[in-house]
Amino acid sequence: GEDSTVSITVVGASGDLAKKKIFPALFALFYEDCLPKHFTIFGYARSRMTDGELRAMVSKTLTCRIDKRENCNDKMEQFLERCFYQSGQYNSEGSFAELNKKLKEHEAGRISNRMFYLSVPPNVFIDVVKCASKSASSLNGWTRVIVEKPFGRDSESSAALTRNLKQYLEEDQIFRIDHYLGKELVENLSVLRFSNLVFEPLWSRQYIRNVQLIFSEDFGTEGRGGYFDNYGIIRDIMQNHLLQILALFAMETPVSLDAEDIRNEKVKVLRCMKPLILDDVVIGQYKSHTKGGISYPAYIDDKTVPNDSLTPTFAAAAIFINNARWDGVPFLMKAGKALHTKGAQIRVQFRHVPGNLYKKSFGTDLDRATNELVIRVQPDEAIYLKINNKIPGLGMRLDRSNLNLHYAARYSKEIPDAYERLLLDAIEGERRLFIRSDELDAAWALFTPLLKELEENKIAPELYPFGSRGPVGAHYLAAKYNVRWGDLSAEH
Ligand code: BG6
Repeated sequence: GEDSTVSITVVGASGDLAKKKIFPALFALFYEDCLPKHFTIFGYARSRMTDGELRAMVSKTLTCRIDKRENCNDKMEQFLERCFYQSGQYNSEGSFAELNKKLKEHEAGRISNRMFYLSVPPNVFIDVVKCASKSASSLNGWTRVIVEKPFGRDSESSAALTRNLKQYLEEDQIFRIDHYLGKELVENLSVLRFSNLVFEPLWSRQYIRNVQLIFSEDFGTEGRGGYFDNYGIIRDIMQNHLLQILALFAMETPVSLDAEDIRNEKVKVLRCMKPLILDDVVIGQYKSHTKGGISYPAYIDDKTVPNDSLTPTFAAAAIFINNARWDGVPFLMKAGKALHTKGAQIRVQFRHVPGNLYKKSFGTDLDRATNELVIRVQPDEAIYLKINNKIPGLGMRLDRSNLNLHYAARYSKEIPDAYERLLLDAIEGERRLFIRSDELDAAWALFTPLLKELEENKIAPELYPFGSRGPVGAHYLAAKYNVRWGDLSAEH
């Protein structure tokens, strides 16, 4: 309102995430007139910098989307005028008190709402939260903190982090980001399921044969080896991004669209999942590969990674949900870096048509005849359903065809970045897309025993060449459950 302000402090303002995602997302929101009338943005970090230097740094990464160049430079100027910088230590209440003083000046007596975005390494999370809450929290409005993974590295360390955060914050002040929840097609999952009659009745073991959740990147850890080696692909992608998608996919209908109702259902379905077991998991690590005269490095060639690292850069897993809806249905997850292609998809394979009249048309490969729903989260967003169709003409030949909703063709508007939606929701106090602490606990409970076993027994990952389809073990794991992985690079 007229008499309130929002200040957003990006703690760790010179880091990669801040430069690549947070400032550009804030600018996009400003451009769209989504930010409140009175807002101020502060960058906070240890290095000395003037407001001007911060603005110069930030301006390099701001972009205007293709379809709205209009006034872009003016808008950038206006935005940058609202950005300021404060240098200080992450563990100094004094530094945060200085920040507090500046925030107050900008708030000019209005009701003050304050958001702190922790874009810093996890080892300083608690220091920052402590200092910010003691020296720079709002006295008459709200104070919220956005944190991003890693939320610990197993059940115990995650619980400890939550406990420590809660020394200084209430649960409803903590906004845990999983940026996959801000992706358009992930948010659309619930719309697809719950507002179309034709999907939800089929959404169970009765009609669904298996579900695949696939994440693939065609580049390696590139400079992030230091962080990555301590976590690995299971913690980096599966325990959060893919599991969140799975929870939304498989949850029961929530009581309402209220954040608590939705998160209650997510927790419920997470708690119905069986903890992962080693027999149902395959891990891999990329090795160097030379192709067309170019040589691609191995994971362990990264200077920040130890030579004998066993950290997986690829993992495939079969997950089962112990409830009436999903009993026996394999949910197969696959996530990897340095693979042949880049993308994220959800693939739903339906059962065979009982007593199929057209059996003969499919030869011996009946699996090819089943319907498949594909949700292409990225790139080139799409939702399509593979159906069998008669090839027009005399005779009777069948063809696999797609009922296709291709976003680029259907919607002219560009899709906002996940961080834009999440930041806007956090400012508005909408918690639907943020991870509640019981959800986080349930997610870790599924992966912690497996992660411990992998580490304690020093299980060696299967090596796969940079740019390949990953370890063959993933193929055998799927085959064990009569599944053939869908091909991300097909059908573009
Ligand atoms: C991050 C992971 O959470 O997600 C990265 O730490 C990964 O390793 C990234 O590259 C992928 O996100 P996106 O939005 O580019 O698919």
